Amino acid sequence: MPITFIEDKKIFKLDTCSTSYIFCVEDGEFLVSLYYGKKLPDTNFTGYIFRDYFVSFNPNSPDVKDRYFSPDLAPLEYSGFGAGDFRKSAAAIRNKDGNIVTDFRYVSHEICSGKPKLKGLPATYAEENEATTLYVTTEDRTTGARAILQYTVFEDLPVMTRSVLLENASDAVMDVEKVYSASVALPDMDYDFLHLYGNWAAERHLERRPLARGQQSISSARGSSSHHHNPFAALVRHGADEDHGDVYGFNLVYSSNFDITADCDFYECTRINMGINPDGFTWHLNPGETFQTPEAVMVYTDAGIGEMSRIFHRLYREHLIRGKWKNEKRPLLINSWEAAFFDFDTEKLVSFAAQAKELGFEMLVMDDGWFGKRNEETNSLGDWYVNENKLVGGIGELIRRVKALGMKFGMWFEPEMISPDSDLYRAHPDWCIHVPNRTRSIARTQYVIDMSRQDVRDNIFGQICSILDNYDVDYIKWDFNRNITEAGSALLEKEQGKEIFHRFVLGTYELMDRLLTRFPDLLLENCSGGGGRFDPGTLYFSPQIWTSDNTEALQRLPIQFGTSYCYPASTMGAHVSLPHSMDELVTKGNVALWGTFGYELDPGKLSEEFKDVVKKQVEEYHLTYDLIHYGDLYRIISPFDNPYHCAWSFVSPDKSAMHFTHVCMQYHPVMKRIIRMKGLDENKMYRCRETGEVYSGALLMNAGINVSKFPRDAGQSFTLYFTEEK
Ligand code: DGJ
Repeated sequence: MPITFIEDKKIFKLDTCSTSYIFCVEDGEFLVSLYYGKKLPDTNFTGYIFRDYFVSFNPNSPDVKDRYFSPDLAPLEYSGFGAGDFRKSAAAIRNKDGNIVTDFRYVSHEICSGKPKLKGLPATYAEENEATTLYVTTEDRTTGARAILQYTVFEDLPVMTRSVLLENASDAVMDVEKVYSASVALPDMDYDFLHLYGNWAAERHLERRPLARGQQSISSARGSSSHHHNPFAALVRHGADEDHGDVYGFNLVYSSNFDITADCDFYECTRINMGINPDGFTWHLNPGETFQTPEAVMVYTDAGIGEMSRIFHRLYREHLIRGKWKNEKRPLLINSWEAAFFDFDTEKLVSFAAQAKELGFEMLVMDDGWFGKRNEETNSLGDWYVNENKLVGGIGELIRRVKALGMKFGMWFEPEMISPDSDLYRAHPDWCIHVPNRTRSIARTQYVIDMSRQDVRDNIFGQICSILDNYDVDYIKWDFNRNITEAGSALLEKEQGKEIFHRFVLGTYELMDRLLTRFPDLLLENCSGGGGRFDPGTLYFSPQIWTSDNTEALQRLPIQFGTSYCYPASTMGAHVSLPHSMDELVTKGNVALWGTFGYELDPGKLSEEFKDVVKKQVEEYHLTYDLIHYGDLYRIISPFDNPYHCAWSFVSPDKSAMHFTHVCMQYHPVMKRIIRMKGLDENKMYRCRETGEVYSGALLMNAGINVSKFPRDAGQSFTLYFTEEK
């Protein structure tokens, strides 16, 4: 059984294929964490949590009679606030008396096969026989607040998911001021805190620093998961690297304000809390009501950071991405943004499509600028009807001509935004996010529309449907180009004021879900000024996300390396923009292959010589599609470790093929010449397409190959394709 309750010891043991997570019910019905790590055969934890140094500043619990027990010293599984544990609490609920003392104790539990859906929220999914779920009901005996802790273990992957359902089981109103999705206790702090930070056009760069006593956290308060921090963090054993060592990876399936905090105490123990950012959050809970937290995903491996990434990749490919596009080949697209910005009409778009078809592309995406009176970014968001001055004959005519060429058709929307200069805003000035008596901050000359409102969502849905119901649209790029300020809604009661961020994202999720339910074949690509909302919550609805507005190949390398710590290549929107030299074209292509692949340029600006190279890139895309979309990624040389060059490979699941890419950022004579491959079968023989040489997997991985004869000046790159030689 993947989840067992050992009755006599009151121990819960949750096993995946290679990990165990163990906690127990202590005296006083405290839930106490015992272990998380490599799979264990037994559960003898006698005396394990006892720490022998107590002082009067660690309050003891009167509920534990026969010995000293302090909630402040115990590795509590899910700690409340103000009842003896002074570390960062997982939950705090303001009760009818006005205080926020919260103290959850075990009541009961239930173990079920499968994995339940989370109401209104995206989450990983599993078939009945692929996962097992434990529900542990805990209660604050004074207030009647209940926290039902949900744990799911996957059987074929070392993955657990966690979430919490809060219930107001009292007859008085409560205000939830803080409710994390999960809290994890580890008995030491000999780890590095690894996370992804960034900015617009520089998303998901890597930060790794040793844990220190005190709290260290990453968070967002922007109303989106954000460019600045990703809802992903890992604890990496000091000295662990890509291929060796203990790694715990944590990721939140959430697209709004989040917080991941590691709290290290005097005893050098670590508590990780992850969930909705309590800053700016309070949820008003009436008697009988529940509040569901987002899902936290937890991965453990002792085989290094690279393996942690591959586990996340498999999980998200198989248990997060849904619908038709989970397994169907995505169309190779050309996007009009960097090709024309706002300056296009039907003739120009049809000409892009015709030339793109010649080059082997499969879909034209009409980006921003087709609606209202939009010729610049100052207006028309919310007016989702076609600008017939640009698209003469309407959108139907454009689509008819694009489809006649044998191309698919996609288009851009920014459904969560409204321009002050729009018909929609003039009709409904209260439909944007705002608070009374305060100026509305503007960003990119736009406001954020109030997605918490059903009437607003219905309007936007109606406008999108009036296009999708009538025209054959294969793809939507869903953009989100600013963050949320003056967060408030005209419809929320005063006591619900701090619910707006969460209600907003629930509204966004509902709208995406409604769209996909009505148009199940639609391919949705999300975007937020590039990769400002690149998270598993968004991936649940759209199998690909535009990774960054930065399409310069060398600057993209850290962005793609960083993104790959948690997210698979099949989710990373990556396009080739207009190159200025042959080397740049080749390298932009090689870098974009590590993603969904497409072009974002005016094909008319490509010389014949460049076009021949583009055609080769298209062939390479088809050849390597399965390998890159479904294979295993190995980061071989990282731009975060080496300023001169970097390299990565994709290996097919059966290890019969490998695609290797090398990019030189900066020439240097001491650049590594010998590169050792990873992830191959040492007993298989592989032929290199480029050289015709045949090597064993053992040789490629242990001796490596000498790459000095391949292009290695600054900006140059090359790929090698190896297939099994039988
Ligand atoms: C930001 C996106 O990241 C770009 O790709 C493009 O769609 C623009 N928005 C359009 O306004």
